[in-house]
Amino acid sequence: MLLITRDLPPDVMARARREHQTRELHLQAALSPQTLLENLSGVSAILCTTRDTFDAALIAALPSSIRVIATSSVGVEHIDLEAAAARGIEIRNTPGVLTAATAELTLLLMLMAARRAGEGERLLRAGNWTGFSPTFLLGRDVSGKALGIFGMGRIGRAFAHMARALDMTIHYHNRTRLSPELEDGAIYHADDESFLSAIDFLSINAPGGEATRHWLNAERIARLKPGAIVVNTGRGSSVDDEALIAALQSGHVAATGLDVFNNEPALHPGYLALENAVLLPHIGSATVETRNAMGFLALDGINEVLNGV
Ligand code: DGY
Repeated sequence: MLLITRDLPPDVMARARREHQTRELHLQAALSPQTLLENLSGVSAILCTTRDTFDAALIAALPSSIRVIATSSVGVEHIDLEAAAARGIEIRNTPGVLTAATAELTLLLMLMAARRAGEGERLLRAGNWTGFSPTFLLGRDVSGKALGIFGMGRIGRAFAHMARALDMTIHYHNRTRLSPELEDGAIYHADDESFLSAIDFLSINAPGGEATRHWLNAERIARLKPGAIVVNTGRGSSVDDEALIAALQSGHVAATGLDVFNNEPALHPGYLALENAVLLPHIGSATVETRNAMGFLALDGINEVLNGV
């Protein structure tokens, strides 16, 4: 039996029901450990998302029938991997299939933030447009500027590829340097000081978790050039919200585009008051094609474990 925590796209649900006996929780809010544990009799596989936290305590309490937890996400920081390994539970995720969609959204946020698109749309809808003016709603050029990518994994590299079409110079900061083939001309910075001072745009594409928690803090923001633009489609936890909000208020950071937040969906209220913040509700991978591909890949992972192939 396959337990599905929340509704995935119709084609994914249809395939899951064709291939498995399913138990469906249809959750809308965060997963409650008690609800999960009450629904696990006869279950050997769980299909979840990043909203479902499997910490060490919950994993320890899972019945021995559970052989695999598949998350329809590339991120796995909501699952305690060590605890799962200790219980012999396999974890599957969905890398690769959401790369293009998330890179596209990163590009969208960068352009929207640079060109003040959210602000313009709000103003127009509020009936406050008084007509074309040479000094009205001036943003920043993107073409030809220096883009810094923190986290040059699949999504970071796909975004770099798109940004090259805008003649941007690509810089990146990673724990390790990529091969020349993957680097594709991007400039590597082993230390974040030289990285942050070299760029006009910063894109956070790193995974979440302890290693990147509040990576973008007041100290690192101060190293950015005045007027830099910050985009985050990785994880909200990589940003110290108080520090970014203060920099947006002072103008040291000219604008931001965020798709991910600390404590989603309860984002820091300071962002809501800022015209220079473009805010999206974690929709990086939210296209029909991509969400289908993610669900199918998660099901492939489950079948692989259950069928031992
Ligand atoms: C992911 O795949 O990790 C995205 O953030 C969607 O949850």
